[in-house]
Amino acid sequence: MNTVPEKSILGVGCGAPVNFANIKEGETVVDLGSGAGIEVFLCANKVRESGKVIGIDMTDEMLQRARNNAEQGGYSNVEFRKGDIEQKIPIGDNTVDLVISN
Ligand SMILES: C[S@@+](CC[C@H](N)C(=O)[O-])C[C@H]1O[C@@H](n2cnc3c(N)ncnc32)[C@H](O)[C@@H]1O
Repeated sequence: MNTVPEKSILGVGCGAPVNFANIKEGETVVDLGSGAGIEVFLCANKVRESGKVIGIDMTDEMLQRARNNAEQGGYSNVEFRKGDIEQKIPIGDNTVDLVISN
């Protein structure tokens, strides 16, 4: 699948990290500052069902929007967690393969 939920597109990103990250099926990826989830969904399409993508954002509004988008898009391999990435990233040590941010 190459599409993402339309409401995940905020148009505020400044790059295309997924194009350079060489993401493979089965990997676990973290997206810092995930917003409404666009990069998470792009990654989820690449890691497929055997992988997982975790989006981190500090605002309840963005987390809610991202979770709604995941539900409406039928994504079962994504999760959105609350956290201030400048303080403490809510991810265990040595639990992910790749970190991206846009
Ligand atoms: C410019 S938006 C980009 C969102 C998304 N990556 C995209 O490309 O559409 C930045 C996002 O990072 C979040 N953010 C900014 N500072 C943060 C911090 N210190 N910790 C966690 N999230 C943060 C904001 O809430 C916002 O959703």
